[in-house]
Amino acid sequence: MLQSQCSLDGDRGPVHDEEMTTYVIFSMATLFLVDRACAVSVRYSVMLDAGSSSTKLRVYSWPERKSTSSTLQITETFSQRIKPSLSSFQDSLDLLPKYLLNITSIAESQVPSSSHNKTHIYLLATAGLRFLKEEKATALMNMVRNVLSDKRNHGFVYSERSVRILSGEEEGVFAWITANYHNGFFSSHQSLSKAVGVLEMGGGSTQITFLPDGPLLAHMFTLRISGRIYNLYSHSYLNFGKDYMERRVKDYLIQQNPQVYDILNPCSLKNDNYSYEYGNTTVIFRGSSSPSECLTIISNFLRLSYDTCYPKPCAIGSIYQPSVGSDIFYAVAVFAFVASDLKATDSSGRLDIDKLNKTAHIYCSKTIDDAASVYNVPPEFGSNTCMMALYITELLTFSYGFPVNTKRIYSFKDINGKSLNWPFGAVVYEAELLARDYPCPPFYQINAGTSQHQLRLTLLQLLTVSVLVSVLCSTKHV
Ligand SMILES: *[C@@H]1O[C@H](CO)[C@@H](O)[C@H](O)[C@H]1NC(C)=O
Ligand SMILES: *[C@@H]1O[C@H](CO)[C@@H](O)[C@H](O)[C@H]1NC(C)=O
Ligand SMILES: *[C@@H]1O[C@H](CO)[C@@H](O)[C@H](O)[C@H]1NC(C)=O
Ligand SMILES: *[C@@H]1O[C@H](CO)[C@@H](O)[C@H](O)[C@H]1NC(C)=O
Ligand SMILES: *[C@@H]1O[C@H](CO)[C@@H](O)[C@H](O)[C@H]1NC(C)=O
Repeated sequence: MLQSQCSLDGDRGPVHDEEMTTYVIFSMATLFLVDRACAVSVRYSVMLDAGSSSTKLRVYSWPERKSTSSTLQITETFSQRIKPSLSSFQDSLDLLPKYLLNITSIAESQVPSSSHNKTHIYLLATAGLRFLKEEKATALMNMVRNVLSDKRNHGFVYSERSVRILSGEEEGVFAWITANYHNGFFSSHQSLSKAVGVLEMGGGSTQITFLPDGPLLAHMFTLRISGRIYNLYSHSYLNFGKDYMERRVKDYLIQQNPQVYDILNPCSLKNDNYSYEYGNTTVIFRGSSSPSECLTIISNFLRLSYDTCYPKPCAIGSIYQPSVGSDIFYAVAVFAFVASDLKATDSSGRLDIDKLNKTAHIYCSKTIDDAASVYNVPPEFGSNTCMMALYITELLTFSYGFPVNTKRIYSFKDINGKSLNWPFGAVVYEAELLARDYPCPPFYQINAGTSQHQLRLTLLQLLTVSVLVSVLCSTKHV
């Protein structure tokens, strides 16, 4: 149609042909350059999560983002557990390089080699390293830095902050990012009240992280995700995790019973008798299945120090915590295991604290064999489940301030099969720090090299040519 109008005119001079050719070449060149600049390439990240019993290698990938206000589409593409743990090298630093090089070579096989020099490698350590003596931990981390900063050892990008021991608060914040990411909070730009708080517990510590409804006077952690700023409250209680609470109960009983080497433990179930090394002595503990006495000991650890609590209110001791407000919370890791053992959640995962408490008192009065058979809890966790259920009830209500009949704590092991681990959130956080804006039309935000991408490019070029032809022809007609 356009063609015939132009030819019918019969007055097409060479000047117009040249003009048109110039326009077409110019527009094609522009498109080509925009396309090169805008083609979305895939980014990778290598994360070594140095935990207390092993190091988990995880590889993540995502299409590069064109605007920092959109959400990174990150997926975990590989994970492998490597034993032993990093902290087991504290007295044999010379063996550490070999251990790390094994891990980096596995990582290299999981990232396309052309992307190695754009891929950051991280080694973030948690509980196991936090409990080491400071000089041991420093020596260990310096050795890790020496190995990972040496370009001869691997092809990834290393930077100073890529190797460190995480604070408990960072761990809590990263878990918060993970939970809210998998919940779709960041991608849907929902109101702040839709963010979920996260309660997390491991062997060593427990973390509480949330966006307070009211003022935040201390323990603030600021982060930026998908172009929005969040001021989170986060606190980590070291020594308040599953294994450390158990140890603290035993140590407390020993201190309360000096010179006694055969002690009843109210937090252990009847017939759970075992020996325990304390300094240079061995103590026999015998379970007595006494939930109320156990609770007295636990409450002692959770005592508030009103006199030194400033700013107020406080949760445990003199640790400030703003009110938990009205948002939903996810209780993960040990919280989820204990709630599931004692069947204290409904089908949607909602935790019933009152039920957990009542069941705990019944469960904790049984012998270890009865408890294990009635509740189907493996005997090796039988006593720990009792103590943790009593402790969690007290922690959530007395310390954190949730009403016992609250309906807004959900206890999850994962969301839609996606584990609620902190390394995912750490990768989101680090990728956000590195992010730049690439202002490109949405039309181009498609993976480079794919057939879909080629097709769009061709269509766009055809469209431009026909628009130009049409403009030139109609100008001539006027
Ligand atoms: C490397 O790590 C893997 C996984 O833990 C292990 O099976 C293998 O023996 C290690 N190789 C070396 C050389 O240490
Ligand atoms: C990364 O490696 C590729 C080849 O794999 C090379 O073309 C590129 O220049 C390198 N980039 C940097 C920043 O070293
Ligand atoms: C544990 O100790 C108690 C108190 O001495 C005793 O009655 C019980 O039989 C012991 N149980 C086992 C399995 O040893
Ligand atoms: C255990 O060690 C302490 C000092 O650490 C010492 O006073 C005590 O006598 C020792 N006890 C035994 C039974 O060896
Ligand atoms: C837990 O249950 C015990 C015994 O039934 C009760 O005394 C206690 O008040 C309950 N705790 C909470 C926080 O409701």
